Amino acid sequence: MTTSFAKNMYQADLVKYYDVMHQHRNYCQECNFVNQLIHRYCPGTTQVLDIGCGTGEHAVRMAQRGYTVTAIDTSQDMIALAQEKAQKAGVTIDFQCTDIQSLSLTEGFQAIYALGYTFLYMTTYADIMSFLTASYQALQHQGVFLVDFINGWSLIDQYPRDKFVYHRGNTTIFCFHQASLKKPERVKHIEFYYVISDHDGQVKTIFTEEDLRIFFDDEVQLFFTHCGFEQVTSFRDYSFETPQSGHDGSIILVVGQKY
Ligand SMILES: C[S@@+](CC[C@H](N)C(=O)[O-])C[C@H]1O[C@@H](n2cnc3c(N)ncnc32)[C@H](O)[C@@H]1O
Repeated sequence: MTTSFAKNMYQADLVKYYDVMHQHRNYCQECNFVNQLIHRYCPGTTQVLDIGCGTGEHAVRMAQRGYTVTAIDTSQDMIALAQEKAQKAGVTIDFQCTDIQSLSLTEGFQAIYALGYTFLYMTTYADIMSFLTASYQALQHQGVFLVDFINGWSLIDQYPRDKFVYHRGNTTIFCFHQASLKKPERVKHIEFYYVISDHDGQVKTIFTEEDLRIFFDDEVQLFFTHCGFEQVTSFRDYSFETPQSGHDGSIILVVGQKY
């Protein structure tokens, strides 16, 4: 049995299990929805930027749809997995290991998206502003920006403590996590403990922790507007259905356009 501590989920020890733990995700539905919104806001889009591309599930599907995709992530380990998928799918993607906050692109893209809750890692007001401002600057005139995150109403109540078991092939992952709320910062601090049994017959334990910011729909729309985006609106759970209340839906997608 080996034991290790990972600074976050996107470091070597845990990265290769990311797709096992995210196998419930419907990436096709997410890409279909994003594609429809890109057509609605910025028809004729060819150049897109994927922020926090992770293991590349969206980037590869968007490239297969004919977009020219640039995909960035701060984790070289996540990018390495994404590169393998792109190669297998026979698509070319410009992967860059960089932080959106230090991205110095200006006016290159017609659409930019950050999916899979990457935005939750922007835990301070300064992070949020530099994330939105860098994205705004990297967009062409009339370009569209899409960001998803867990509905704050769900995140506050979810995960006080919980456990999950994931299986795929010969891999079994047991995960226990417990959270505390840093009230003034409106940040959820979550500690994770994994026991992983892999195809090599080895069992390992890994500890990690994360800070995730609690965001609400109208709050994020306000941040978008403050950073210059117009036509700002939101959708719930990757659907065009109108929510009955702010509590509805566990995933919010906020969309804005650069004018
Ligand atoms: C929850 S994962 C989402 C991955 C992928 N988009 C998905 O939907 O599965 C968040 C990703 O964002 C990356 N990330 C976090 N902060 C970032 C930043 N400031 N700039 C670029 N990537 C970042 C992490 O390394 C991680 O791969």
